[in-house]
Amino acid sequence: MTSTEDRLLGPEQVRARVAEQLRRSRERSDALTDAVDDDDLVRQHSKLMSPLVWDLAHIGNQEELWLVRDVGGREPVRGDIDELYDAFQHPRANRPALPLLPPAEARAYVREVRDKVFDVLDRSPLEGRRLVEQGFAFGMIVQHEQQHDETMLATHQLRVGAPVLHAPDPAPATPPARREVLVPAGEFTMGTSTEPWALDNERPAFRTHVDAFFIDTVPVSNGDYLAFIDAGGYDDPRWWSAAGWAHRQRANLAAPRFWSRDGDGWSRTRFGVVEPVPLDEPVVHVCFHEAAAYAAWAGKRLPTEPEWEKAARFDPATGRSRRYPWGDDDPGAEHANLGQRHLRPAPVGAYPKGESPLGVRQLIGDVWEWVDSGFQPYPGFAAFPYREYSEVFFGGDYKMLRGGSFGTDASAVRGTFRNWDHPIRRQIFAGFRCARDATPAEVR
Ligand SMILES: [Fe+2]
Repeated sequence: MTSTEDRLLGPEQVRARVAEQLRRSRERSDALTDAVDDDDLVRQHSKLMSPLVWDLAHIGNQEELWLVRDVGGREPVRGDIDELYDAFQHPRANRPALPLLPPAEARAYVREVRDKVFDVLDRSPLEGRRLVEQGFAFGMIVQHEQQHDETMLATHQLRVGAPVLHAPDPAPATPPARREVLVPAGEFTMGTSTEPWALDNERPAFRTHVDAFFIDTVPVSNGDYLAFIDAGGYDDPRWWSAAGWAHRQRANLAAPRFWSRDGDGWSRTRFGVVEPVPLDEPVVHVCFHEAAAYAAWAGKRLPTEPEWEKAARFDPATGRSRRYPWGDDDPGAEHANLGQRHLRPAPVGAYPKGESPLGVRQLIGDVWEWVDSGFQPYPGFAAFPYREYSEVFFGGDYKMLRGGSFGTDASAVRGTFRNWDHPIRRQIFAGFRCARDATPAEVR
């Protein structure tokens, strides 16, 4: 397929696609919640996270609000619980104290909602209203469930106890010969006006100029990061911003989260498994401040959001922006480490078939990448379908994350997809890659 117009689907194709995606997301939610007992489901494994049983019923509640009530125009399934599962009403730390549906009731609730949604999907005309064109509301709910599945995966990572999740390891990889590539100066198209399930903050497409810069072909590895630790990077304020240094002191940061000293080396805990830190894997569970400090120490910097997107999507041969680094096809197993197929990032250099036209690898999948930009609307932004999706977060204390992780489903990431979080957060599956300005001599 070569253009978005070719990808516009007829109503029956949209229905089939939605049904398949709904089934896949529910399979994953079930696997993440069936892996532990009821005690574990209602427990809070970290103040940063909800009990898993909250996420589960919240997934059902959002689905009820948008698809059963709004799209379907049906009576509420449970009109009495909206407030409990409204993320804006209750911060995560307070959720365990709420009178939440117990596990059996939560499971029955999400099943009942889902049954009604399949009926709504059969009967909805999927046209005449922007909310349902190309199945948008269904796509939004699929993405919402998959996003909470990634959040639940992060809760699993914070959970203490024997391993309950299992997956094969990714294959070994060979890093590309070039460590960095030049992204030429010039305009490119950022964002999208045509991707049917893109969310409001990815819209609309617009042209923007980016100066020439170099970007690393692979994410920073644990081995690279270890050199920063060994060089005393955590103890040298020169590499840290003022806010970063203050946080490093306050939080007593000394290594990525989940790492611990093991004799002369380091080990890490990964979903209940304690193992030596694998040197060839992208570093993960570092906050924005750590990423920025590493980059400064390495004589580089983090890319900005437009730089990251240009490196990921710009095709110098045609001048157009691709949906993904490898082209316009949906992500396949050969392109990227997505969807919790593995419970870890793949080694640096993996997925040569997922490379961008400029030769940058692993932009999609493996680890979310911190970029040095705050959360701002694109020119021409319009909130849709509700202000609380993006607009209320603009201008806050956030840094952007791009590209998705091994725990992100393919339905919930695109070349244009934008994620954001507080710059001190480390429980998410986030790493980074470095960039640097190009000197005049280098761009001649
Ligand atoms: Fe949510």
